[in-house]
Amino acid sequence: MKIILTGSTGFIGGEVLAQCLKNPAITSAVVLSRRSLSKEISDPRLKVIIMKDFTQYPDSVIKELAGADACIWAMGSNAGDSVLEIDYPIAFAQAFASTLPVHKKKFRYLHVSGGLVEPDQEKPLWFLQNARKVRGRAQTLLVDFPKQNETGGLWETFIARPAAVQPSSGVTAAVITCLLGKTMSIRADELAVAMIDTVLNGTGSQIENNPELLERGRALLK
Ligand SMILES: NC(=O)c1ccc[n+]([C@@H]2O[C@H](COP(=O)([O-])OP(=O)(O)OC[C@H]3O[C@@H](n4cnc5c(N)ncnc54)[C@H](OP(=O)(O)O)[C@@H]3O)[C@@H](O)[C@H]2O)c1
Repeated sequence: MKIILTGSTGFIGGEVLAQCLKNPAITSAVVLSRRSLSKEISDPRLKVIIMKDFTQYPDSVIKELAGADACIWAMGSNAGDSVLEIDYPIAFAQAFASTLPVHKKKFRYLHVSGGLVEPDQEKPLWFLQNARKVRGRAQTLLVDFPKQNETGGLWETFIARPAAVQPSSGVTAAVITCLLGKTMSIRADELAVAMIDTVLNGTGSQIENNPELLERGRALLK
């Protein structure tokens, strides 16, 4: 599988990249990043594209992305920036969708959202209202993307809604994970392998919450 990744310099995206490179089913990984990855990350299957502007996909970038089977979009923040949370993934979706009629391959797009993200724009929220609603708008737009755009039935969107993500190792992380329980936390490696499994094999539910991601991630890591 050829996979496109974003957020690979970050906590969750970095673990997704590491788990992709451990997985023999991933034959090619194309990372879109605004800066270089750590020099220690090297693999013949890996290609890093430095993006100046995540709203623009020139032909040279489209050429590198074309023929991909999946994307895991792990770029984001809690700042409530609509350009980062909405404009960037939608620009990617529109640019990539233009390649689908040529390659005629199914494409699975998985968006890393969050357990507290709120799609209902009218609902009053007590904290992080703007950030949670901006990301909720992104979730709705991406779920609706194949209905609103010409994708020839080839585009599938998945949304992962993890709760508090903990480091993959370490005693503190283990204690926090234990205290918070199944609905409120997940280790980064558990989340990463569950999301990679989703884009490799699909899943019955388009939107996955922490308990489902955790259960599948744990089973895959056993
Ligand atoms: N960590 C958690 O517990 C948790 C839980 C649920 C959901 N999430 C969500 O998961 C996503 C990733 O979280 P994380 O913890 O991995 O965050 P992170 O460590 O801060 O990583 C964020 C990634 O997004 C990139 N990014 C941020 N702003 C950007 C911009 N304006 N232009 C281009 N790239 C940009 C960063 O690139 P640079 O390295 O270049 O800055 C980095 O690769 C976020 O949307 C977050 O809200 C996180």
